[in-house]
Amino acid sequence: MQFPEYRPRRLRRTEALRGMVRETRLHVSDFIYPMFVVPGRGIEDPIASMPGQARLSVDKAVETAQRARDLGVPGVILFGIPEKKDAVGSEAWDDKGVVQTAIRELKASAPDIVVMADACFCEYTSHGHCGVLTGGELDNDASLENLARVALSYARAGVDMVAPSGMLDGFVTACREALDEENFDQVGILAYSAKYASAFYGPFRDAVDSAPGDGDRRGYQMDPANSREAVREVALDVNEGADVVMVKPAMTYMDVIRAVADDVSLPVAAYNVSGEYATLKAAGERGWLDYDAAVLETLTAIKRAGADLILTYHALEAARLLAKEP
Ligand code: PBG
Repeated sequence: MQFPEYRPRRLRRTEALRGMVRETRLHVSDFIYPMFVVPGRGIEDPIASMPGQARLSVDKAVETAQRARDLGVPGVILFGIPEKKDAVGSEAWDDKGVVQTAIRELKASAPDIVVMADACFCEYTSHGHCGVLTGGELDNDASLENLARVALSYARAGVDMVAPSGMLDGFVTACREALDEENFDQVGILAYSAKYASAFYGPFRDAVDSAPGDGDRRGYQMDPANSREAVREVALDVNEGADVVMVKPAMTYMDVIRAVADDVSLPVAAYNVSGEYATLKAAGERGWLDYDAAVLETLTAIKRAGADLILTYHALEAARLLAKEP
């Protein structure tokens, strides 16, 4: 079939025709909303580098999660900003920690919201690295022991899914074994399987004050140049018992999302990270692009690339935009 008998424009003529042959449909149930939780009450502290996002105290986080749920967003993922940091990040596994408290209060007030919690140490350590340092290097296996403590403290608080994000070798096994030993076999694992050493985490590190004091994260996060390695990392996490595997960031790694989606049968998540959010916000605020259209195009593209779930700071505004769409 070729021109002039075949004319692809025939199916683009009206919205009804376009809708009929649309291959990817973004839906509010695809979204997970990330939230930053701080100690205190009544706090909504705007994050300068992420306009529209704020550090929330537990009460405000509960309200916000309920608002997300009312818009149809099925789940949230929590990040904690502790009272005080130390060398090993011990507040991360404190049963009375800010994330643990948020999980308990969320589950008590809105049990239908899927509550996930990021399990990492960079927000909790004085040096900003994602675990215990030995001789200036991230000590993988010592960090795994603490990670298991974090996973268990989240499970005791009632979390639905633990999300280890430190790119430690064996982090899924460490979480799964710890959870199963304590009979938390129904707590799932969202694995940050292919997480790249990306410049696009800048605004997040600002939000949680987690920029590494010394060095960078390239000794554990992946080299942006590699995609076959991502498939390998994902395969390891599948074997270790992950329930959902994730690629992060999303926009500059669409090919990786596709490669992973083609390789595994588990649900695939993609993290549309802080720098991606901030980029669209900044351009939108300057009137350099149509922000709403750019958000929906971006999220549709991430889904088209193969993501079943999208962690995105745009979740609430995208939910509102989708509800308005014809
Ligand atoms: C690590 C973690 C990071 C993000 C999520 N989990 C930061 C990092 O690895 O430096 C980044 C999320 C974002 O940029 O939106 N706990």
